[in-house]
Amino acid sequence: MMMMIKAMWETAKEITLQRIVMSYQLRSAALLVPNQLDGLYVIVTGSTSGIGYYTARELAFAGARVIMACRRVDEAEKIAESWKEDTDDSKTLHVEVMELDLLSPSSVRQFTAEWDQSGKPLHILINNAGILLLGESRQFTEDGIEKHIQVNHIGTSLLTLLLLPSMLKANSARIVNVNSVGHHWGAVEPKSWKMGAEEERKFSNMMSYGSSKLAQLMFLKALSTKLISMGKTSVLCVAVHPAVRRQNERVLDVGSF
Ligand SMILES: NC(=O)c1ccc[n+]([C@@H]2O[C@H](COP(=O)([O-])OP(=O)(O)OC[C@H]3O[C@@H](n4cnc5c(N)ncnc54)[C@H](OP(=O)(O)O)[C@@H]3O)[C@@H](O)[C@H]2O)c1
Repeated sequence: MMMMIKAMWETAKEITLQRIVMSYQLRSAALLVPNQLDGLYVIVTGSTSGIGYYTARELAFAGARVIMACRRVDEAEKIAESWKEDTDDSKTLHVEVMELDLLSPSSVRQFTAEWDQSGKPLHILINNAGILLLGESRQFTEDGIEKHIQVNHIGTSLLTLLLLPSMLKANSARIVNVNSVGHHWGAVEPKSWKMGAEEERKFSNMMSYGSSKLAQLMFLKALSTKLISMGKTSVLCVAVHPAVRRQNERVLDVGSF
């Protein structure tokens, strides 16, 4: 009960603050300028829509070499082409599409194997792809893992760990996890993640989403601590709550990446 009240309070506080900031038009100015990120390799997961779309676009227009890591490859190719049409010189925009389905561990492994083969360093990994299956019943992957947990936590963590060697090749790198204030609704109970497992709490999609985000936050914190203890301080781990946004609403501030 106390947890529920705290979650409601944190969510209401976040939404209210966001409304106040937006009503005063206190949006921070875009910090990225053309050529600022020249030469940096950036992977953005889930960049065919929403926050990932605008993040990938802003980073590409600031000179980064952006890899759109997506399930819908054809759609991503079309998007990349449309961005090139928006520039004066399409050669200055470096956008590549690579297939990635976080529901499937083998897709994650294939993606990272391909990336490794390229030998490139990775400067920024933006773990943006995520799902919130509101209104749907409890769903599982082919491996029997609850889907929020698989996409938002397990698939994302596997991707991060497998890309770590490429990030350590860069002089400086960062992992940005697009988390959520929704993590306050969750609890980390790994025993309940599998199909057929006894549930410790009554299932709800919102709680499962919250749990996946909380688990992801804990994973990132543990990874950061481990990296620091190993003296590998070149990789910075950051988690962000991107504010609550409606479908297709533009994200204005990606400057802090
Ligand atoms: N919107 C909000 O108010 C809000 C608030 C807090 C946090 N967030 C977080 O912000 C992130 C982006 O949210 P959004 O609102 O921009 O969502 P969105 O518009 O639904 O976009 C989600 C992206 O993730 C991709 N994706 C979904 N399942 C995937 C999978 N199995 N493998 C690879 N990619 C997959 C989607 O690809 P497809 O097009 O192929 O489905 C899409 O490109 C999420 O992590 C979300 O939890 C959002």
